[in-house]
Formats: sequence, structure tokens, C-alpha cells
Amino acid sequence: MSAPNNDYDPVEVTPLQIEAVETARDAALAAIAAATTLDELKDVRLAHAGDRSPLALANREIGALPPQARKDAGQRIGQARGAVAKALAARTASLEEEFEEKSLVDECVDVTLPWDLEPVGARHPLTTIQDKVADIFVAMGWEVAEGPEVEAEWLNFDALNLGPDHPARTMQDTFWVSPEKAAMVLRTHTSPVQARTMLDREPPIYIVCPGRVFRTDELDATHSPVFHQVEGLAIDEGISMAHLKGTLDHFARAMFGDAMTTRFRPSYFPFTEPSAEVDLLCYVCHGDPALVAACRTCRGEGWVEWGGCGVVNPRVLVACGIDPERYSGFAFGMGLDRTITSRYDIADLRDLIDGDIRFTLPFGVEV
Ligand code: PHE
Repeated sequence: MSAPNNDYDPVEVTPLQIEAVETARDAALAAIAAATTLDELKDVRLAHAGDRSPLALANREIGALPPQARKDAGQRIGQARGAVAKALAARTASLEEEFEEKSLVDECVDVTLPWDLEPVGARHPLTTIQDKVADIFVAMGWEVAEGPEVEAEWLNFDALNLGPDHPARTMQDTFWVSPEKAAMVLRTHTSPVQARTMLDREPPIYIVCPGRVFRTDELDATHSPVFHQVEGLAIDEGISMAHLKGTLDHFARAMFGDAMTTRFRPSYFPFTEPSAEVDLLCYVCHGDPALVAACRTCRGEGWVEWGGCGVVNPRVLVACGIDPERYSGFAFGMGLDRTITSRYDIADLRDLIDGDIRFTLPFGVEV
């Protein structure tokens, strides 16, 4: 005989009628079936199978019943609770499976989607060429120097043997920065960087200066008021025109391939003496007598213009505090925009500055 059940609160006890147990069981089964997430099912478990659920409370009543009734009730309630527990386990398993399948779908990465929704773009050929020039010279032990784009008139002109009345000043149509008495210009070439370097330090000096320069040209297919140059300067003991030629030949081969050569034509620059224009063998016809006459790139010349160069004028060395008795040097300067347009046969210089990605893309992301 079991001991009397003193352990229940009569207020909470539901009558142990068959219908009440069945109602509680059916309500539990319906709620379990209706739960659509594991969280919802957790609440259902608490309400229908928890300590204070109708079936749990009914179970606590059993002990107080007479033996026969206890057996009946025990069986009925036990079956009902078993059915609820089974339904809960089955629903939990199916919801877990559903959840897992859904996360597999949600978190799945479709490797077949197009990858270039955000195009990476390409480096501008002007950037690439400036880097390439720098690399070629750095590999020979030279340094890269930079200077300001708004420059003192004295450094842009006077220090380079271009005095106020020098006729060659008109060769470089200058943008003046107001007020006039500030004597500042937008640099017309990268040569003031050379003057700055010579004023700053002692030879030996081996520098290249790539950079943006400005002249009052109209913007058209072959001219631009903003363009890019690279200049080189070497100052050391015993430097001659032969070193200049050798350096430029190496530069040209490193840029355009081993078959490239250069030629010098006599010219004039106030900052070099002697001075020369340097030409490249035509990239297209290579000066081949059979092709040259019809070549559009060099217009039948066999050569294309590349830049200016020469032995540094001793007056420039003196202006920049370098002893011309002990040191000599060479300098060269070329336009990078023209180098690109002629090398790649680009008819309109403006394509270089329009910023249209379709122009830069074919140059790729060469680094
Ligand atoms: N600075 C010259 C120019 O822009 C180019 C040059 C540089 C010529 C160095 C000779 C020596 O026209």
C-alpha cells in the first residue's frame, strides 16, 4: 500500500476524468504539431510537458486515488504523457533537420555566380610608365626625387641658366601664379627638382624625377596644358656625353626591348651644353628601308622623338653651388604622355586624361 499523498495542492488539481486527460493530450499534440521553430517547441514543451502542465499535475493526483482507480488513471495518464513525449521527440528531430537544411541553403556560397560585380579597374598607363622608369633607374643605383608642382620662378628658370631676359623663356609658355610679385609658377618642366637636389646635397648625385608639369598649351589631340615628364640628372667626377648616351641606350632597351637604340641630334637648351634631342628607333618599322617610307608612326623618318638631353651647363652647376672644376654631369628629360601615345599608336592625347576606364583597362593591372 502506498502512503497517502499529502503532497498536492487541491486547488491546482484537475479532475481525473478521461476527457480531461484526453483534452490535455490532444491540446499538447496539436500545439506540438503547430510549432514551426525549435524556440516555439521549447515553449510548447514547457506548457504541455513541464512540471506545471495539466498532465503533470494530473499525474500528481494519482497517488491520492484508491488502488483500482489509481491503476486506471496511471495507465491513462502514462499513455497520454508517453504520446506527448514521443510527439515532442519526433517534432524536435524534424525541426532540427529542417533547421539544418535551411542553414545549408542560407549559408551556401554559389561559386558559379559571376565574380566581377565590382570591377577591379586598372592602373593608368601614366602611373605604370612612371613606376617602370623609376624601377629601371633604381636598379642602377639611382634615386627617385620629387618636388612641388607650384615652384619658385628662380628654380624653374634662373637657376637653370634661364635669366629673366633669356629668349628661351618663351620656349616654355608659363602659367604664373598670382600675385605676380610672389614669383611663383606652375613648373614648366621637372628640371627644378634637379636644381633643388644640387642645392640640397653634395655630389655624387644620380636622380630621376618623374612628375606632372604645366604649359599654356590649348588642349587638343596632340597638346595638353598638363603633361608628364621624367628627368634624369647625374653629377659626378669625370661625367661625359658618352655616359649620357650609354645611360639613355640602356634606358631605351629596358623600356622597349633589346632591339631598341637611340640617336642624338644637336639641339639647344640653356641648362645643357652641348645639348641634343634624343630619338628612339621607330617601334613600328624599326627603320627598315623596305618599310620606313610608308610608316605612319615615324612619318618616314625611321626615328621618333623622345626628349632632350645634354651635358649640364657649368653655369647651372655654379648657380646650384657645385664646383664645375671638379664635377660635371649630364641631364635628360622626356615627355611620358607622348612616349605612351606614340608607343601605343594612340591618336588622341586627350584619351590619356579623360579618365575613361575603357581606355585604361586594356593596359591591364601591370605592376
Ligand atoms: N627640361 C627640358 C624640357 O622640358 C628637357 C631637358 C631636360 C633637356 C634635361 C635637357 C636636359 O624641355
